[in-house]
Amino acid sequence: MQTPQPIGIFDSGYGGLTVMKEIVKALPQYDYVYLGDNARAPYGTRSFETVYRYTLECVKWFFDQGCPLVILACNTASAKALRTIQQNDLSGLAPDRRVLGVIRPTTEVIGNYSASGKVGILATAGTVASGSYPIEIDKFFPGVEVYQEACPMWVPLIENDEHGKPGADYFVRQHLDRLLANDKGIDAILLGCTHYPLMQDKIKAFLPGNITVLSQGEIVATSLVDYLHRHPEMEARITRGGQRRFCTTDDAVDFERHASLFYGRALQAEHIDLGS
Ligand code: DGL
Repeated sequence: MQTPQPIGIFDSGYGGLTVMKEIVKALPQYDYVYLGDNARAPYGTRSFETVYRYTLECVKWFFDQGCPLVILACNTASAKALRTIQQNDLSGLAPDRRVLGVIRPTTEVIGNYSASGKVGILATAGTVASGSYPIEIDKFFPGVEVYQEACPMWVPLIENDEHGKPGADYFVRQHLDRLLANDKGIDAILLGCTHYPLMQDKIKAFLPGNITVLSQGEIVATSLVDYLHRHPEMEARITRGGQRRFCTTDDAVDFERHASLFYGRALQAEHIDLGS
């Protein structure tokens, strides 16, 4: 049997599973390995240096698993670590492998969802502070106004399974009100953290009906289909065994208990040590 060369999908915790679910739906034929760095999550409140160091360790782990391609299905890691890894680390580490993020594919299309030219970004404090969304959106949709709101309570609420309960309403309303207070014309809001799709229904319920709420799973999946089409040399390296491996740096049983909420089905997980 051929040694698997899977697509690696990474998040600080469970959020990347919302992206993986859509990627697997679009491209079921490939092998996949997921890693949640649950032992060190959340990343959203950590410094650039720390997010970069943690993410790089995880990318190296994916390379050790034979992944030719790794998707950082985490906005915080995409905002704070991706560019340095691509520009500084890859050439010495594995010049023939690729690491991609979730911000670029999202910013390539986001302007298409707004008639007013005013979009809102809900994300972690780290993603907001990086300025990645306004900078990248300006490249593809110059003139579109971007308003950001950091929602530091949302990931802990979701990871602790409190997001569906009435206590979460206060924090959801608070951040939506603050975002909309910037400009009443905002008509497209991006869930710029891969955890937030779990609260999509609640978020929609608190917003006027004319506002489109976007989550990234399908956008990233569509972009990956296109990427593999444009890079047949990469596509040919990914093995097609239909294997799905789910790994966590924390407790595997705990991971399994929470992960199904994000992935939409039960799964089996393994604990891994990053060796640092
Ligand atoms: N899911 C990650 C993101 O998309 C962040 C969660 C965290 O703070 O660790 O930004």
